Amino acid sequence: MTSNPLEELTLARLQRRTSMKWRTHPADVLPLWVAEMDVRLAPTVADALRAAIDDGDTGYPCGTAFAEAVSEFASRRWQWHDLAVARTALVPDVMLGAVEVLRLVTDRGDAVVVNPPVYAPFFAFVAHDGRRVVEAPLGADGRLDLDALAEAFARAGASGGKVAYLLCNPHNPTGTVHTVDELRGVAELARRFGVRVVSDEIHAPVILPGARFVPYLSVPGAEDAFALMSASKAWSLSGLKAALAIAGPQAAADLRRMPEEVSHGPSHLGVIAHTEAFRSAADWLDRLLRGLDDNRRLLADLVAEHLPAVRYAPPQGTYLAWLDCRQLGCPEEIGDGLAVVADLAGPARWFLDHARVALSSGHVFGTGGTGHVRLNFATSQAILVEAVSRMGRARRDSR
Ligand SMILES: Cc1ncc(COP(=O)(O)O)c(C=O)c1O
Repeated sequence: MTSNPLEELTLARLQRRTSMKWRTHPADVLPLWVAEMDVRLAPTVADALRAAIDDGDTGYPCGTAFAEAVSEFASRRWQWHDLAVARTALVPDVMLGAVEVLRLVTDRGDAVVVNPPVYAPFFAFVAHDGRRVVEAPLGADGRLDLDALAEAFARAGASGGKVAYLLCNPHNPTGTVHTVDELRGVAELARRFGVRVVSDEIHAPVILPGARFVPYLSVPGAEDAFALMSASKAWSLSGLKAALAIAGPQAAADLRRMPEEVSHGPSHLGVIAHTEAFRSAADWLDRLLRGLDDNRRLLADLVAEHLPAVRYAPPQGTYLAWLDCRQLGCPEEIGDGLAVVADLAGPARWFLDHARVALSSGHVFGTGGTGHVRLNFATSQAILVEAVSRMGRARRDSR
């Protein structure tokens, strides 16, 4: 076993997988799109799952071990010492958890503010539940724009309904890690406009050297907000359903209104895996983060060498690279209606057709997304080199 979890599996081994990343496209396509990682499970997580299978421990989840593990991890890693287990609820996954929390604080027809370009289901899941999406686009630097946020909060509340804000902390797809000052600014605006904040912190453990994650609920003024956490992205457990909704002290009464059936969604094996990841797999995570840091730098070299017209600002967190391909001039043919994560247009369509590399299409991330692709670099260096080389070759051959 190497010390870098990203270097343990060969392409042939990965191609045996049956998950979305590996089965959406034909076998000749290198998939660097949906946020699944090309890693094995952290050994302690795999052992906990194996023990449960061996014992037939596959009943219903019980107890607060998951919340305790997240709370202890938050305390050790982020010096956030007041994640109270009593103010948490088990939810099936982060997105369904976000929808359920939004139901607690908004009604149908009310507004939910988001910061495009942002994770595509932020639009679809909110809209499917009868809420109106109001956009406060990120600034040109890919960071939160507090003026745009204030304007969106005012616009969202103008018709008199309730307003919520679905914050992506850290931000997908730009990999921006919001600073404490930015988040204090958010909290101040949320208070001023009476907006309830729901912070999606699924990528929180994936912070690369040079940045520091700030849990939104640790920020003064955020006491009436909610956060959602899970081990799904950092330990590659998306298929093992479980996540945690966390309420600030002034949101605890709201969280208690969460309907009982929501807690029936997560699976017992999911809870076991997510608990073990937070409890005992921090050293595995640290090795992963070193590998991701190497890959984020390797990608910069590869883009400079093979795709000089593409602009890439390395992310501060996540394993997602947001590549500005507008200078390539690929045609964008975008369908009507809400995009789903696998939709393709513009440069992502072009690279799939001409380079046999699957990337996430920028347009699904909303305003500011067209002309971009999102590349998932949680893979081996061999696959990363091959993918970007293919993309560069396809560009040169097309001239
Ligand atoms: C910001 C963000 N939120 C939520 C999710 C999905 O999480 P879950 O599978 O727990 O719903 C993802 C997946 O990539 C994501 O990037």
